[in-house]
Amino acid sequence: MSEMREDVLKVLISEEEIKRRVKELGKQITEDFAGKDIVVVSVLKGSVMFMADLLREIDVHTEIDFMVCSSYGSGVVSTGAVKMLKDIFLPIEGRDVIIVEDILDTGKTLHYIKDYLWARKPNSIQICTLLDKPERRQADINADYIGFVVPDEFVIGYGLDYDEHYRNLPYIGVLKPSVYSE
Ligand code: IMP
Ligand code: MG
Repeated sequence: MSEMREDVLKVLISEEEIKRRVKELGKQITEDFAGKDIVVVSVLKGSVMFMADLLREIDVHTEIDFMVCSSYGSGVVSTGAVKMLKDIFLPIEGRDVIIVEDILDTGKTLHYIKDYLWARKPNSIQICTLLDKPERRQADINADYIGFVVPDEFVIGYGLDYDEHYRNLPYIGVLKPSVYSE
């Protein structure tokens, strides 16, 4: 086992499960947006793996763009304040937009992003999140497409980080508590 993988307490969602679910989500989006020309906005950096895999399962005309926001410090607890660090370039007025995010936790980030994009008068905004932690919700927001509902545990892998690390794990896992306390 690699040094990195030794830090993983357990695998919560395997590579195969992710693959299967991403395929289903892509199929659903393809059906729901048949005949449309959509804009898919990835919230960096956490959604990078999910975005790349999901896009290849979407079979309608699609433009992509990227946004960077930060609400977290380097720890596991949200600071609450959301900041826009990089905006999208594409115009979205009158367009159908899908925001792709890694995880919907307190919901503050997506609540902020959705409001921010609505100001540009798109036709619609849908949220597609790989993971949903409904127990932790504080903002009034829900996703339209959800990969997996997860318990209130800090998860890493497949894009999700702890202190910028572990994004390159191919599965979703839970870290050993010793990693936080070190
Ligand atoms: P929210 O604004 O509280 O919904 O936080 C959303 C962001 O917090 C996500 O995009 C993640 O970057 C980060 N986040 C929340 N929970 C976790 C987790 O369990 N692991 C890694 N990142 C998380
Ligand atoms: Mg993130």
